[in-house]
Order: sequence, then structure tokens, then C-alpha cells
Amino acid sequence: MKKLIQLSFLAVVLWGCAGGINPKNTAKVEAAFAKYEDSDGKAIFREKCAKCHHYKLPETKTAEKWPGIMDRMARKAKLNDDQKAAVVAFVTKHAKAS
Ligand code: HEC
Repeated sequence: MKKLIQLSFLAVVLWGCAGGINPKNTAKVEAAFAKYEDSDGKAIFREKCAKCHHYKLPETKTAEKWPGIMDRMARKAKLNDDQKAAVVAFVTKHAKAS
């Protein structure tokens, strides 16, 4: 049992490090976000979307994938409908070409 807990903890830690932009690396964050024009969606994404994991930038997923992911993440980030719509617009606009 203890082993299982340790293993799942390790999995979470490893998963958290897998890709994405570390929010603590301010220079990297600035560089990553500088390429998007300013919008509400960008601001909300930047504020809310690296609390549990690194930033998973829009171009890491396709525009087909994002809405389903955002259904899960909007709830996790406690976004209201307007905030969610703004973030969906932001991430799908800059999504990976499918
Ligand atoms: C309360 C914690 C939490 C917050 C806040 C959060 N996430 Fe997540 N996120 C998770 C967890 C846990 C997973 C892995 C499980 C899953 O995919 O549902 C995940 C997975 C993801 C994935 C990978 C999904 C996939 O299918 O590959 C993306 C992309 C993502 N989050 C984006 C976001 C965005 C964008 C926001 C801001 C709106 C956000 N997250 C806010 C906890 C969070």
C-alpha cells in the first residue's frame, strides 16, 4: 500500500515535469507569451492555467482537442462561462495545426 502511494506520487511529479513551461521560470514565461497578442483569454490562461501543472501552451494541442480539454480544465480552474469562452478562443486560435 505504501509503495503504491509512493509510486503514484512519483507518477504525478514526473507527469508535472513532462513538457510545458514552468511558471516559476519568469523569463521563459515572458518569452512564451510574448508571441501571442494580448486578449482576455491570454490573461486568464496565464493567471489560472499553471496552478496545478506547467503551462500547456495552445500550440501543444490541436483545435479539435482543446474544447474537450477545456471542459475539464475550466471546472478545475473554476472559470465562469465567459472566462472559459475567452480561454477556448485563445487556445484554439493558436492551436497546433491538425
Ligand atoms: C486544479 C488543478 C488544475 C487546474 C487549475 C488546471 N489544470 Fe489542466 N490538468 C490538471 C490535471 C490533474 C490534469 C491531468 C488529468 C486530465 O487530463 O484531466 C490536467 C491536464 C491538462 C492538459 C492535458 C490534457 C490532455 O488530454 O492531454 C492540458 C492541455 C491542460 N490541463 C490545460 C489546462 C488549462 C488550459 C488550464 C486553465 C484553464 C488548466 N489546465 C488548469 C489539473 C489542472
